[in-house]
Amino acid sequence: MSPRRVAILISGGGSNMVALADSMTGDHPARPVLVLANNADAGGLAHAASRGIPTAIVDHRPFRNDRQAFEVELQKALDAAGAEIVCLAGFMRILTPGFMARWQGRILNIHPSLLPKYRGLHTHQRALDAGETEHGCTVHEATGELDDGPILGQARVPVLPGDTAESLAARVLKMEHRLYPAVLARFAAGDRRPVFLP
Ligand code: GRF
Repeated sequence: MSPRRVAILISGGGSNMVALADSMTGDHPARPVLVLANNADAGGLAHAASRGIPTAIVDHRPFRNDRQAFEVELQKALDAAGAEIVCLAGFMRILTPGFMARWQGRILNIHPSLLPKYRGLHTHQRALDAGETEHGCTVHEATGELDDGPILGQARVPVLPGDTAESLAARVLKMEHRLYPAVLARFAAGDRRPVFLP
C-alpha cells in the first residue's frame, strides 16, 4: 500500500511539524507531502524546506474575515499536494465547520492540555492557577468544535513546585514531540486505538 500523504499546517516555529516529518521514514505508513503556513514568517517553513518537503504559504490576512475565501485557497494547496491526512501543528487559525466537515476523520490536532480540560489558549498558566498537580497534551481528531473531537492520544507530565507557564510548557512540548508521531503512525495505519504516554 502506498504511504498516506500528510499535509502539516503551521503558524509558527513548527517544532511539532519537525517531529512529525522526521518520524515518517522507513516502514512508517505515511510521508509528509506539504507544510503549509498562514504567514510567510513562520519559522517552520525553513525547517520543512531544509528537509526537502514542499511548502506553501496561504496568508489569511488579505481575506480579512472571509474565512471561506481563505479556506478555498487552503483547499487548493491541499489538493495540489494530494493530501490525504491533515495534521494541525501549532496552526493558529480557526477553521469553519464546512472545512472541518470536508476533512472529517482525516484531520488531527495537538492541544497543550489534557482535554477536555483547558480548551482554548494559555493552557499552562490556567493549569497552574487551578493548582493542577499534573498536566499534558492531547492529540484528537479535529472537528468544527474548537479543541474537541475523538481523543487519539494523551501524554501526562507532572506539575513541579516552582513551575512557571514557561517551564511547564517546555515539559509538555517535549511530550508533544513524542505523542504526535506515535498517534500519526497508528492513525495512518488505520488504527484509532488511543496512545497514552507515559
Ligand atoms: C504547541 O504548544 C502546540 O501544542 C500548540 O502550538 C504550540 C507550538 O507548537 N498547538 P509548534 O512548536 O509550532 O509545533
